[in-house]
Amino acid sequence: MNPETVNPIMEHITSLAYIVSAALFIFGLKMLGSPETARRGNLVSAGGMFLAVVFTLARAGLDFKWIALGIAVGTAVGVVAALKVKMTGMPEMVALFNGGGGLASMLVGWSEFHAHPGQTAVFILVAIYLAVLIGGVTFTGSVVAWGKLSGAMPSRPVLFSGRQVINGCLLLATLAVGVLFCGGFAPGGAAVYVPAAVLLSLIIGVTTVIPIGGADMPVVISLLNSYSGLAACAAGFAIGNTILIVAGGLVGASGLILTNIMCKAMNRSLANVLFSGFGSAQAKIGAGAEEGTAQATSAQDAYHVLEAASSVVFVPGYGMAVAQAQHAVRELADLIEANGAEVAFAIHPVAGRMPGHMNVLLAEANVPYDKLVEMDDINQTIDTVDVCIVIGANDVVNPAAREDEGSPIFGMPIIEADRARNVFVLKRSMASGFAGIPNPLFYKSNTRMIFGDAKATIETLVEEFKS
Ligand code: TAP
Repeated sequence: MNPETVNPIMEHITSLAYIVSAALFIFGLKMLGSPETARRGNLVSAGGMFLAVVFTLARAGLDFKWIALGIAVGTAVGVVAALKVKMTGMPEMVALFNGGGGLASMLVGWSEFHAHPGQTAVFILVAIYLAVLIGGVTFTGSVVAWGKLSGAMPSRPVLFSGRQVINGCLLLATLAVGVLFCGGFAPGGAAVYVPAAVLLSLIIGVTTVIPIGGADMPVVISLLNSYSGLAACAAGFAIGNTILIVAGGLVGASGLILTNIMCKAMNRSLANVLFSGFGSAQAKIGAGAEEGTAQATSAQDAYHVLEAASSVVFVPGYGMAVAQAQHAVRELADLIEANGAEVAFAIHPVAGRMPGHMNVLLAEANVPYDKLVEMDDINQTIDTVDVCIVIGANDVVNPAAREDEGSPIFGMPIIEADRARNVFVLKRSMASGFAGIPNPLFYKSNTRMIFGDAKATIETLVEEFKS
């Protein structure tokens, strides 16, 4: 943009619009904290972004030909993705969006350097360098994360020998290039250092994400989301755009908070997620977990137990999302309640494959919010529950987290379904869950397995109640 063509009155109006946008972002984020207000929160934040975009474009000196093309392509991709992508494919989509954000910040930083070739202010050079660096890492890191989650590449951790040394050397090279570029000690001109930073960042994105297992990818995606915000924030400083700084800062901070929540819910440190190669050594996992024989029952027999129950707790997991069983589950819950039992839904913070996955599915099926109970609350009263119905959940109800010190998930907080009087586990086989470890819950004396697709099983139970 040419500063001479900017109208000072328009500048003031834009600044005011940016303040309103920032307030809308913050209100929107706050509303995302509860399922009841989350939908409106999303709209409020989107409204803030719309305002910011409109007022940024309304400033003088922009070439609308390319901008219009960008808006058309971006809108088309956004609409198609929102309509086509299934709930279970959401983490992959978020990975691609993060990658797109990182790439955009990298390109903004790069082009800003060329827009002002005589730039010497160290602060701006640092901002440009960080936008390029963090943006590039976010871009390739997110593409690798997308590949692992979508099955386009193996999801297991790829642990190549000497990776720590390689990553260390890359880090040192990045620091050296950064000091030369930002400090103005650039023999042969600073321009050469920007492509060098681009190249280094793209390589680092791959080498740091490829050793992480598919099981940990949702945490990595949340972290990359935070990086994409930080890159945007740096790009905002580079081009002097206040609202980009604010929006980037908010995304960076909220992504870090979410990453922390997810790590806590899995009882892992971020360092353990990033560097342990979790899931690469299946052999030592869950030794001694498969004791006794799992007992199977039919949906028809389970109906008689449910019919006599006075309290029933549903524990949904990833399998409910795969089976798309949420509407049938809601219908069954209503029938059980009409039969005189108390019904609740116990929600584990990392059930499913993304934060709030179960809340979103149950909200879609209009399960009242007051029926949703958090893990810590349900665990306090679970001994008094007549029947616990585990629907496609596995790791989040695995008692090895409490009982088996040798288990890789030992110490992870779980919903203690095994303490209920009767447990029905709805899944298709004895296969393990995301963490790839056996589940002793299946072999407990109070557990009955109901094999089959969760939706089909729930529908059979609904039929039994109706007839
Ligand atoms: P999982 O442990 O992944 O288990 C899901 C189970 O669903 C599987 O054992 C599978 O068994 C069953 N299943 C799949 N399709 C089904 C169908 N159509 N009908 C019935 N059952 C079906 O799920 P979870 O308990 O929700 O745990 C989530 C895991 O993801 C945890 O390990 C967690 O740490 C990890 N994780 C989650 C997040 C977030 S934010 N949610 C982030 C990072 C990691 P069958 O194949 O035998 O049917």
